[in-house]
Amino acid sequence: TKITFITQDNESIIVEGNSGNVMELAVQNKIKGIEGNCGGVCSCATCHVHVQPEDWDRVGAPSTLESDMLEFDDHVSEYSRLCCQINVDDTIDGIVLKVAN
Ligand code: FES
Repeated sequence: TKITFITQDNESIIVEGNSGNVMELAVQNKIKGIEGNCGGVCSCATCHVHVQPEDWDRVGAPSTLESDMLEFDDHVSEYSRLCCQINVDDTIDGIVLKVAN
């Protein structure tokens, strides 16, 4: 599964993985701006990304817990997700995620 991250400096970085969640993959690949401070339990919002609108249906909407967490973030958009809550699997192959500010 390939995922493209667009960093805050507008750099595109393609990473590849087959398991775990997208935050872990980003941290392993040292994607700037994805910190994963809470270890992936949906309580820090340092893994905030914007999904491209055309990929939204594949990624899906956040859970209630995740939406509540996102409300605390000033840069939230209608395509915001916390990427620790997105599993790395075939359904998201090829998606593009913009790292939130
Ligand atoms: Fe903390 Fe995703 S890593 S909310």
